[in-house]
Amino acid sequence: MIIFKTAGELRTWRRDAAEKGLQTGFVPTMGALHDGHLSLLKAASAGNALTLVSIFVNPTQFNDPADYAKYPNTLDRDIDLLEKAGCTALFLPSVEEMYPEGLPPSAPHYELGFLETVLDGAYRPGHFQGVCMVVHRLLKMAEPDNLYMGQKDYQQCMVIDRLLELTGMNGHISLHICPTQRESDGLAMSSRNLRLSPEERHQATAIYRELKAIREQLHRGDLISLKQKAASNLEAQGFRPDYIEIADARTLQPVGEWDGKRPLVALAAAFLGEVRLIDNMIM
Ligand code: PAF
Repeated sequence: MIIFKTAGELRTWRRDAAEKGLQTGFVPTMGALHDGHLSLLKAASAGNALTLVSIFVNPTQFNDPADYAKYPNTLDRDIDLLEKAGCTALFLPSVEEMYPEGLPPSAPHYELGFLETVLDGAYRPGHFQGVCMVVHRLLKMAEPDNLYMGQKDYQQCMVIDRLLELTGMNGHISLHICPTQRESDGLAMSSRNLRLSPEERHQATAIYRELKAIREQLHRGDLISLKQKAASNLEAQGFRPDYIEIADARTLQPVGEWDGKRPLVALAAAFLGEVRLIDNMIM
């Protein structure tokens, strides 16, 4: 596996690959890799001659500086996992490489509209602007043919889809959304799980159970009590929920009254101790 630390090296490699007609599948990450990331790499390997993974903990998407400071770093293990999984190249930029103009960077405002005002958009002000900023820069540097992201970050996938449309990059980059990978007890795989104490790790699976309960009890008509019940069940199990929402799976518009036809997704974000966990389930 080749490791690049500068955008210049990455661009040269990409141009060379493009001249040879070799397609590249790109998986952007913040490291602390787990099987969820490896499943994205597997999808990228299946559909492309070359695979590129980036590891960059992006400061501009953390609205809480303490969360940024405590983001897990397992770089040596990550490199080892990527080598073993057959990744072709790893991009490992510094903050200076990604933001040469310094922090906070001067960046365009991305018109995300409603997507930015609901759910994580409402609870993490500025978060999706930071995600767009870094992904836009990474895509300009990497110029991949295919981009792989996990459904676990459902709203982020919709934001990136919008970013591709806003920048016209959807003309040459295809976004592939891959299924959430779960531990054997149902907990969605996430780098943040590493920060849970053994007791919290045991409790954490409640999010998955509540989403499953919503799916099992889903009915036409009023859905408010279903959401409230799930939120109070989580509170009773030691969580501080930001939201449990049932929304239109295409627009993320919250649905209070269901006609039995609209495609739905249930989404949850809740703190367990200091760790904020998110998950979702297509209904
Ligand atoms: O999902 C993530 O790990 C990050 O938000 C991403 C897409 C790598 C951007 O920093």
